Amino acid sequence: MVQFSLPKNSQVRTGKTWPKPEGATNIRAFRIYRWDPDTGENPRVDTYHLDMDKCGPMVLDALIKIKNEIDPTLTFRRSCREGICGSCAMNIDGINTLACIWGLDEIKGDVRIYPLPHMPVVKDLIPDLTHFYAQHASIMPWLETKSNTPAKEWRQSIEDRKKLDGLYECVMCASCSTSCPSYWWNSEKYLGPAALLHAYRWIIDSRDEITGERLDGLEDPFKLYRCHTIMNCTKTCPKGLNPAKAIAEIKKMMVERVA
Ligand code: SF4
Ligand code: FES
Repeated sequence: MVQFSLPKNSQVRTGKTWPKPEGATNIRAFRIYRWDPDTGENPRVDTYHLDMDKCGPMVLDALIKIKNEIDPTLTFRRSCREGICGSCAMNIDGINTLACIWGLDEIKGDVRIYPLPHMPVVKDLIPDLTHFYAQHASIMPWLETKSNTPAKEWRQSIEDRKKLDGLYECVMCASCSTSCPSYWWNSEKYLGPAALLHAYRWIIDSRDEITGERLDGLEDPFKLYRCHTIMNCTKTCPKGLNPAKAIAEIKKMMVERVA
């Protein structure tokens, strides 16, 4: 797996080491990025120890245990606990993924947990996704039609519906975009793999009637073409999706419509 770099504000120092649980024989260390905007201090990495005989199997179980039993100031996002809300994305052992579906037994040695790379940090493990969401909104992630609205529903054949498989499952976790070097360096102008996967999802929706306008909107040196097929996005996607392929399909459609 690809090893990613630290978040934007990273002059990371060694922080507090919390004591080991008494009487435990199966102890594991968790080295976790901490940054509190209220203190103005540089980020640090705190070390916590957990009794693994009393901890659930997933990284999120460990984070919740640390927050509940050791340090209530540790801050992270989570909601569904089953890989469908996308909110617990973070960098675990060098990999962007979802903490609730990443097993602790997949990690050797100490567990290192950082926020998603190259994003502004709100606090601790929480990246600021404002710009990421704005980019998603910019591709108009909804059905656009020009025909009269049907009395009952916009219908779609089974075959056309199948074309959306591998796209609609995206949970907008941002693991892919924040794993992409092109996105790291040009995120102001390059839309990144997540927004482009969603763009493709609407471009190929048989019910949508502004395909040309959608492609026109991506005809730009940065928005689409800053993808250099590095493939980190596809390697890291915790839902097993293939944003790189979606981007390649958009590029192909661009070529085909001028041919
Ligand atoms: S494509 Fe995968 S990694 Fe990217 S936002 Fe969607 S679920 Fe997350
Ligand atoms: S808590 Fe919802 S995806 Fe992890």
